[in-house]
Amino acid sequence: MIEDPDLFDVFLEIQHGLPRQGPGCDESTLRALSLCGELPAGVRVLDIGCGPGMQTVALARALDGTVTAVDLLPAYLRELERRATRDEVAFRIAALVADMRALPFAAESFDLLWCEGAAYIAGFETALAAWRSLLRPGGRLAVTELVWLRPHPPAPLVGFWNAEYPAVRDVETRLEALRAAGYDPLGHFTLPDTAWWEHYYAPLAAKLPALRARYAGDRSARALLDTTEREIELRRRFPDWYGYEFFVARRAGEATPRSRRGAEPTRPAGERSGADRSIRGHGH
Ligand SMILES: C[S@@+](CC[C@H](N)C(=O)[O-])C[C@H]1O[C@@H](n2cnc3c(N)ncnc32)[C@H](O)[C@@H]1O
Repeated sequence: MIEDPDLFDVFLEIQHGLPRQGPGCDESTLRALSLCGELPAGVRVLDIGCGPGMQTVALARALDGTVTAVDLLPAYLRELERRATRDEVAFRIAALVADMRALPFAAESFDLLWCEGAAYIAGFETALAAWRSLLRPGGRLAVTELVWLRPHPPAPLVGFWNAEYPAVRDVETRLEALRAAGYDPLGHFTLPDTAWWEHYYAPLAAKLPALRARYAGDRSARALLDTTEREIELRRRFPDWYGYEFFVARRAGEATPRSRRGAEPTRPAGERSGADRSIRGHGH
């Protein structure tokens, strides 16, 4: 996180209005959801670091359950609410301001934890270990993380990511971390390159010329814009060396899924029963 409040405002302005705040796409969200296997009826999902909520809405549309979406920034939650209302799934979603480092939920409150492009903020291992108790026994976790896809990446790439996110690791290391934190991996895949561009880098790149003009006299803002541009340029040059990996896992070590204790498996949202109810109620 950027410490200087003025610069953080510039960061927010750079990011403002983008459909996503990091790489991702609905196709990948749904592919990861299919790797979760059978989920209980009325599935309770927690989407951590939801941002403007593209994946939140995709989950709410796909599942016959409820999605609690948390983010530190109220502006993103308002964007999520607009999106959810437009897609007629607001009644399935509760948006809440909360810090992923201190989530305000009781143990075993959720059947599925979701986190696209945000676990790095708490630290991948730290986040997985801390969040595990929020899952009911046998619950599922789906998380994306930046990874090296090949050994010995080119120097400009290593230099950039060592400065921006030195904790980048390879897929095997992240799978080991999942196991060490008490999860059994169920599957993983690399997000397609289009998931970096369509909803993230392409609209971000389109904003940069106007931002450069506005901040021409502000050295720190210009440096931030340079870093953003460099990140996009490196992706264009070296897409095969690194990626975003979707990891899907099951809370290890125990238990009978709720659905096997007598509940019906979840149905597609189009087949929902009259028992559905809204859980909207907001913390901001
Ligand atoms: C890279 S974005 C990903 C957003 C969204 N999942 C997506 O894929 O578009 C990371 C998100 O985490 C949020 N965030 C940052 N620090 C946080 C914290 N301590 N607790 C909760 N959310 C946080 C940011 O506001 C941002 O929305």
